[in-house]
Amino acid sequence: MERSTATAPASGRLTTNSAAETRDVGARLGAAAAPGTLLALVGPLGAGKTQLAKGVADGLDVTTVVNSPTFVLMNEHAGRLRLFHVDAYRLDDPEEALEAGLLDERQGEGVSVIEWAERLDGWLPLDRLDLRLEMDPSDPERRTLHWTAHGEPHARLAREELER
Ligand SMILES: Nc1ncnc2c1ncn2[C@@H]1O[C@H](COP(=O)(O)OP(=O)(O)OP(=O)(O)O)[C@@H](O)[C@H]1O
Ligand SMILES: [Mg+2]
Repeated sequence: MERSTATAPASGRLTTNSAAETRDVGARLGAAAAPGTLLALVGPLGAGKTQLAKGVADGLDVTTVVNSPTFVLMNEHAGRLRLFHVDAYRLDDPEEALEAGLLDERQGEGVSVIEWAERLDGWLPLDRLDLRLEMDPSDPERRTLHWTAHGEPHARLAREELER
């Protein structure tokens, strides 16, 4: 893979043509993730956010199953780094959830993947990698992943793992 220099843009997009390809993208990010890596996922129901999260778990050598956290807002998984998997879909009151510890400092030592991240708009750390998954009305297997990296560590991660 071609490695970009520090002047490369901190945003871009890529397309995947299957759930497995989306998991591969997640696995690359998970394998290269560092303490404090934060992936903020946005996209409609069924866009593939959980598929991406499963890939991140694979890349982190997580052995437990990653599902949508249906009744809890956050699941934790042991791996090379600890994975914090948040699903903010059912979040009614961000402030209450945050007071209850939805985002805590332990996430700075691990890797966080947040589905429906827009529901925590204004509350998330500024240094992060935003990923918006867009569906394609003409192809049910195709997704466009639009990414924007904030801060140099996430920009480097994105350039190295997402630019092909
Ligand atoms: N290119 C693709 N990338 C990801 N998923 C795909 C792709 N093509 C088809 N799919 C299918 O789309 C579905 C994505 O489901 P997933 O649970 O990951 O979505 P989600 O964004 O997490 O939805 P929710 O908002 O309900 O949590 C899966 O059934 C998957 O097999
Ligand atoms: Mg999901």
